[in-house]
Amino acid sequence: MQQSSHIYEFASRARDDNPYLPHLARIVRRVPMVEDNYLFLVRFDDPAMGDSFDYMPGQFMELSVIGTGESPISISSTPTRKGLLEFCVRRMGRNTNALYRLQDNDVIGIRGPYGNGFPVTQMEGSNLLLIAGGLGMAPLRSLLNYALDKRQNYERIILMYGSKYPEDILFRDELESLESRSDIDCMLTVEQAYDLPEAKPWHGKIGMVTDLFKDIKDLDVENTYAVACGPPIFYRFVIQALLDRGFPKDKILMSLERRMECGIGKCGHCGIGYKYTCIDGPVFTYWDAINLPEMID
Ligand SMILES: Cc1cc2nc3c(=O)[nH]c(=O)nc-3n(C[C@H](O)[C@H](O)[C@H](O)COP(=O)(O)OP(=O)(O)OC[C@H]3O[C@@H](n4cnc5c(N)ncnc54)[C@H](O)[C@@H]3O)c2cc1C
Ligand code: FES
Repeated sequence: MQQSSHIYEFASRARDDNPYLPHLARIVRRVPMVEDNYLFLVRFDDPAMGDSFDYMPGQFMELSVIGTGESPISISSTPTRKGLLEFCVRRMGRNTNALYRLQDNDVIGIRGPYGNGFPVTQMEGSNLLLIAGGLGMAPLRSLLNYALDKRQNYERIILMYGSKYPEDILFRDELESLESRSDIDCMLTVEQAYDLPEAKPWHGKIGMVTDLFKDIKDLDVENTYAVACGPPIFYRFVIQALLDRGFPKDKILMSLERRMECGIGKCGHCGIGYKYTCIDGPVFTYWDAINLPEMID
């Protein structure tokens, strides 16, 4: 124990000189989610690091598989629940496939947290309208659970989440359990539902996520933060729907993804105009998007 705490101290000093050096962390459990998605439950190897680590909903970390590379991944857990960090990862290419091949108890590298995160303090006293499409639920789950754990700080909380098929809904059981709560409006929709197994039928809505706007009654849009996260095409429709309903442009927030390398504002890979997604974002307002038109594809 004495010896391992010396190792952690040495590593911490090395990290002061080299911000790219990750912390060692262990995969406690991998939970299969939807096809090609795992939820990785991770803890720092250094217990002191685990105790002191803090982050904001909407921030991300660089996850590395030793010898392969690293990828920016949003933190899906909430800082209000100490313990394990959770990352919902879709396998795409080299690094995320390597991550997929790891087993419980294997070691990975993690560095961060990076990015600005959602302005949770500024949003206090307002309604929250969270709008997710597909994998966009991964960062929004952190904000959703954070707001539910600090329920008294926010007015109405509404979640609108759209997926292509029922079997694509991330955190489905968790979200369906919210449908019975009276302090949140949880609305799920899918574009198509057919050939479903008897054990997992779909009795919910069918349509686009923007169709759910008609089910929101008496929302004071002036006092609402709309937070959207989804694939590029999703933003075009969701933002237009928000503007049509009079949501203030500075209260429309988006979490954006760009190709990243360093994650700390050094390499220039994630630039959008004069902004870097890794340090100025990934959360931007619609005002930012007006000033930097290439922000939304
Ligand atoms: C701030 C941020 C948060 C993210 N959060 C998550 C998350 O919670 N869960 C998750 O599964 N993924 C997330 N991603 C995307 C994830 O980082 C990439 O899918 C991953 O880096 C791919 O790495 P790879 O080595 O497996 O694939 P590569 O071999 O590098 O690429 C495989 C394919 O993915 C594309 N790709 C790679 N990175 C991106 C990107 N950033 N945006 C769009 N396409 C990309 C490549 O163009 C290529 O077609 C996030 C990205 C950012 C920038
Ligand atoms: S990823 Fe290097 S500057 Fe943003």
